[in-house]
Amino acid sequence: MESERTYTFAKVSVPATEAHITHYSSIRLSGLKIDPQAFGSTFEREAQFTRQQWKERLETPGRSTFGVSPQSFDDSLSWVGTAGILNPTMLEAVGYTTPGDLVAGDTAAYMVVGMWVHPEHRRKGLGRRLIEMGFKVVQDDEIGKPKKILLKVHRTNEGAKLFYSNLGFVEGPVNNDSDGIWMSKKI
Ligand SMILES: CC(C)(COP(=O)(O)OP(=O)(O)OC[C@H]1O[C@@H](n2cnc3c(N)ncnc32)[C@H](O)[C@@H]1OP(=O)(O)O)[C@@H](O)C(=O)NCCC(=O)NCCS
Repeated sequence: MESERTYTFAKVSVPATEAHITHYSSIRLSGLKIDPQAFGSTFEREAQFTRQQWKERLETPGRSTFGVSPQSFDDSLSWVGTAGILNPTMLEAVGYTTPGDLVAGDTAAYMVVGMWVHPEHRRKGLGRRLIEMGFKVVQDDEIGKPKKILLKVHRTNEGAKLFYSNLGFVEGPVNNDSDGIWMSKKI
């Protein structure tokens, strides 16, 4: 796709660079403001975060965060899209429980979080490229078990549901949460 050539993708390293902390906090707050229904958190809550809290989120063990800028080779350019993936150790550490039937006993569960592309940059393949960076992290994780990536999407978010199904995510098998629909993909 021609338009993809003008974008640069980044994976946040640890320690996170100052530029990445700035770009991530800025795009996260934009996403929470523009599409509040798409997330479990709120603009009001995260607008209070200190720079140290943003840094700690990006450097959380077991979290990988990705961003995309609209031009090449300049770390100072703002991001126009972001996504994150949490690994099983991180999910366990925060006591995150997934619906039992989604993940069989011997399957390692990963989770997509914070997927957002600015409206002016949608339908250019950026979301797909961001989530594929997450797939790569999962594929490269030598955990020695079958792997499944999970995510939760708001019941009425038809665009995102189509986006995820085109990437191989399927609904369920359980979906009795009131606020969202679970989707999953085997890796
Ligand atoms: C969902 C979202 C991340 C998609 O990002 P994007 O960069 O526009 O997605 P892509 O361009 O990579 O889309 C890839 C394919 O997914 C499908 N798709 C993406 N958005 C779609 C939409 N709104 N409606 C229907 N299909 C869609 C299309 O098949 C698209 O390919 P095409 O453009 O060649 O037809 C973006 O719309 C967004 O940030 N939405 C608001 C936040 C949100 O809902 N996040 C998910 C929370 S769970």
